[in-house]
Amino acid sequence: MEKTQKANKTELMRDFFGEDDEVFLDRITQFNQLMMKYNSAIREVKTKLEILNDELSFKGEENPIESIQSRIKRPISIAQKLRKMGKPITVESVFENLNDVAGIRVICPFIEDIYQVAEMLIAQDDIKVLAIKDYIQSPKPNGYRSYHIILEVPVFFSRYKQPMRVEVQIRTVAMDFWASLEHQLKYKNDSVDTAQIAQELKECADVIAQTDVKMQQLRHRIHNNLSNNS
Ligand code: GTP
Ligand code: MG
Repeated sequence: MEKTQKANKTELMRDFFGEDDEVFLDRITQFNQLMMKYNSAIREVKTKLEILNDELSFKGEENPIESIQSRIKRPISIAQKLRKMGKPITVESVFENLNDVAGIRVICPFIEDIYQVAEMLIAQDDIKVLAIKDYIQSPKPNGYRSYHIILEVPVFFSRYKQPMRVEVQIRTVAMDFWASLEHQLKYKNDSVDTAQIAQELKECADVIAQTDVKMQQLRHRIHNNLSNNS
């Protein structure tokens, strides 16, 4: 089983980069150049988020952002996704068809911080929003919650500027805690226990969601007390 999986991956990488030495070098160079551009796009969006966080905490509010993580999709995952979509496995096709090569995850303390950060990012006039999925208003059946934005940010290079797509996932600390464990269920071999675990994870997601709401209400009460007392 493991051997055929490895053979499949090798074959997929051959499709992507070619077998011939010259073609291979050429495509690797093209691919690396595209990844450099996605990395630049991540830096642009990350800086925007850090500036928002700095400015809002400077105003005396608590930090709306707890942490920011980012990643570039691995070549094998890129090729697998293109194959699944039935798209050509080429560097041009990556740029044309994939929205999530560049990924940023923003972790916020409270649900209202998510909407505040999202709204402020989207309002910036060089950001073009391509799609929004609000899995907080409409959680996935498994209990997954998060706010997803697919956006385009212009990146300025030596001779031209290029709009680059970035997937931004914004979620609370609690939602992130849940998603990390749930993600591991995908890699679990099918066993009798899987359905049971999925069921219990769904229950945890609902408890976590209630706790997120409760924590936000408590925060408001604490703040109201503070402003009444000062
Ligand atoms: P992908 O093909 O997985 O990228 O999904 P999509 O194009 O349908 O977009 P969607 O917004 O549903 O998911 C994008 C990303 O959100 C995924 O790659 C995951 O990182 C995350 N995500 C979505 N659904 C789940 C889920 O049920 N559990 C976890 N742990 N993460 C999820
Ligand atoms: Mg994805």
